[in-house]
Amino acid sequence: MLKVQDIVYVAFGAPDLDTMTTFLTDFGMVENGRSGDRVFMRGAGDYPYVTILEKGPAAFRAVGMRAGSAAELEAAAKLPGASAIENIDAPGGGRRVRLQAPDNYRFDIVHGMEPAKQLPLREPLAINFAFKKQRVRDLQRPPFEPARVVRLGHCVLKFTDGEGAARWLNQTLGMLPTDRLYKPEDRKATLGTFMRCDRGQNPADHHTIFALQAMPGDIDVHHTSYEVQDPDAVHIGNQWLHNKGYVSEWGVGRHLLGSQVFDYWRSPYGHIFEHYADGDLLTSDVKPGDYAATPENLAQWGPELAPTFFDSVRL
Ligand SMILES: [Fe+2]
Repeated sequence: MLKVQDIVYVAFGAPDLDTMTTFLTDFGMVENGRSGDRVFMRGAGDYPYVTILEKGPAAFRAVGMRAGSAAELEAAAKLPGASAIENIDAPGGGRRVRLQAPDNYRFDIVHGMEPAKQLPLREPLAINFAFKKQRVRDLQRPPFEPARVVRLGHCVLKFTDGEGAARWLNQTLGMLPTDRLYKPEDRKATLGTFMRCDRGQNPADHHTIFALQAMPGDIDVHHTSYEVQDPDAVHIGNQWLHNKGYVSEWGVGRHLLGSQVFDYWRSPYGHIFEHYADGDLLTSDVKPGDYAATPENLAQWGPELAPTFFDSVRL
């Protein structure tokens, strides 16, 4: 059975590739080649790209997830509506199967990509805690720079039937439910389910896909989220994007479910991109949780949530 092990990339259409490349560079990604009408943006980690830009209308195009083995990729090609196994024409090569998820989202199952050489990244900051000092005669000087993206962490998608989508992620991709969010006034009404990769006893992020219940007619990505080195990087990135005149959506704060220090920004085409650091890691034996979608269950601290946060696109 297919058990995806990680999220690798997302793909977006962009009317002007340079406008989005500039934004993603200020967001902390690095261009790793262009081919035809596509730009590959990478993080400092070992995937050759974490975001693909394709010239065209501004829209979410696909999410790429890593299969556990070549045999799993072959199993994916036999699923209803799946493409045949294709060679990936992109840095790092590899093979993929395109799957059609609920609401026609394209999920690429990938395998055999050549790892990229990691890019330099400043060391995590050594913090002098009140009763635990670990930095003496060593000055704290993090550079003022874009928050260097290390990897893609998760992606939130809105579905006509959010519960059905969570079931599809479980039954088709082998993902596990971590926590469910329900309407505070109606415990039966699921607003969304955080799904993580099943890596057995190896740790996995609290969520890799969040299946969010859509308002009628609003089938779109909600946000994509990228891991950076530490909370200082999140705050420095916030200041960097602010100075460049981009539109802040929410942050800096700390989530409850997943515990990440987060910061959300709008791209020039209105999509939300999130920086995060210090997220929770879980093994496969952790049982699912159940939470009301109240402000205190969304963030432990941070600015008040703006009403525009759930808008798919805001220009
Ligand atoms: Fe997020």
